[in-house]
Amino acid sequence: MKFFLDTADLNEIESLIQTGFIDGITTNPSLIAKQGSSMQEIIKNICKMVHGPVSAEVTATDFSGMMKEGKYLASIAKNIAVKVPLTNNGLMACKELTSQGIMVNVTLCFSAGQAILAAKAGATFISPFIGRLDDLGEDGVKLIQDIVTIYNNYPNFKTQVLVASVRNIEHIIRTAKIGADIATLPPKIIKESYITTA
Ligand code: G3P
Repeated sequence: MKFFLDTADLNEIESLIQTGFIDGITTNPSLIAKQGSSMQEIIKNICKMVHGPVSAEVTATDFSGMMKEGKYLASIAKNIAVKVPLTNNGLMACKELTSQGIMVNVTLCFSAGQAILAAKAGATFISPFIGRLDDLGEDGVKLIQDIVTIYNNYPNFKTQVLVASVRNIEHIIRTAKIGADIATLPPKIIKESYITTA
């Protein structure tokens, strides 16, 4: 299982990247906003520090706006994965961006049906939000089980399952047992795992 860091904090990235456990980074507009510099500057710096995929999210909600922002983000560095929301426009932008050779992370996935659509749109990553489902009294890990089972049935689906909204170590262990490709973890969870898995 790969681990991505779910943060835009350059100090956290710098310190945790040295562990050798970090395979990529995911950011979102709220994580970027906490840092106090421009999106472009932060993303550029992260991409210099990390060789693996770095997700940077569009804020537009219309197709042409997503395409414009997505192409701009992808121009910042070769390892950018453009993050788009799981909406009709997001899926159309996913299809178009991936056809141009750009990695796309389709985020805010809350159902297996949505994950099928993202795979059909050629998504590089699908991000199901398991903690948010747990918050609603549903079983987030069950969604990962469903998506992994479905994707395994169709070898032409190349989309990697990127477990997001991870709240605890149990989420990592249970989704690793199922065979999820990646978990994106807040720095706090990575640090906790040193203490509880030793
Ligand atoms: O990976 C998605 C994350 O940034 C949101 O997580 O804990 O706010 O649901 P959370």
